[in-house]
Amino acid sequence: MRTKACIFDLDGVIVDTAKYHYMAWKRLTEKLGITFTVTDNERLKGVSRMASLDIILEIGGRKLTMPEKQELAAQKNEWYVEYINMMTPGEILPGASEFIDELKRNNIRVALGSASKNTPLILERVGMNHVFDAIADGNNVTKAKPDPEVFTKAAELAGVEITGCVVFEDAIAGVEAALNAGMICIGIGDPSVLKDAHLVVKGLHEMNLDKLISLEKRLGNEGII
Ligand code: G6P
Ligand code: MG
Repeated sequence: MRTKACIFDLDGVIVDTAKYHYMAWKRLTEKLGITFTVTDNERLKGVSRMASLDIILEIGGRKLTMPEKQELAAQKNEWYVEYINMMTPGEILPGASEFIDELKRNNIRVALGSASKNTPLILERVGMNHVFDAIADGNNVTKAKPDPEVFTKAAELAGVEITGCVVFEDAIAGVEAALNAGMICIGIGDPSVLKDAHLVVKGLHEMNLDKLISLEKRLGNEGII
C-alpha cells in the first residue's frame, strides 16, 4: 500500500468540540453585545483562536487593540477549557477508534494534525493520549491552515514521506492545507462544502482499509497520484 500514515484533524473528525468552541465564543459575544449565530460559527472551523476572534470582531464591526484582544482570547479559552474538562471517552465520534485500530493492525501509522493548543487536554479527557504515533498541534506548529505546516510536521514526526500520507479533515482550510502539503485528503462532512477533497465521507464510521485501498487505485488510474 502507498499509504503509510493517516493524519487526523482533531476537532470535528475525532471529537465534536465545535459545540464547546461555540458555547465559549457565544458567551464572549454576549458579553461584547455582538450577535453571533451557529452559521457564523461555521467560519471558525479549523481557524486559530486569534483569527477566530478577528472574524467575530469583524462580524460585530469592532476594532480593538492587541492587549484587549489577548484578554478576550484568554477569557474565551478559560470558558472553553471549563467545558472540555468535562469531556468523556463517550464523546469520541462514531467509528474513529475502530478505524484507527484497523490502521494500526495493518502497520499504518496514525498521527494528529490540529490547530488547537488544547489538543493534549482533549486527548487526555477522552482517553486517547497514548493512541497517536505523532502529534502536530497548536503547541508545536505556528502557521495556520491552509498552510501545510501542521501536516508536514505530523508526517515528519511520524517518520513518513509526504506521498505516504492521507489526511482526514472537516474544515475547508484543512482540506486546502492537506492539498498544499501534496497529500491525499479525505473530507469529513458535506461533499458540496469540501469540494476539493479526493473523497468525502460523513464520518470515520464510513471509513475502512478497503475504502482507502480503492481510493489509492482510483487516484492512481486517474493519474492524480
Ligand atoms: C481547531 C478548531 C478551531 C479552533 C482551533 C484553535 O482548529 O477547529 O475552531 O479555533 O482549533 O483551538 P484552541 O483550542 O487552541 O483555541
Ligand atoms: Mg476540524
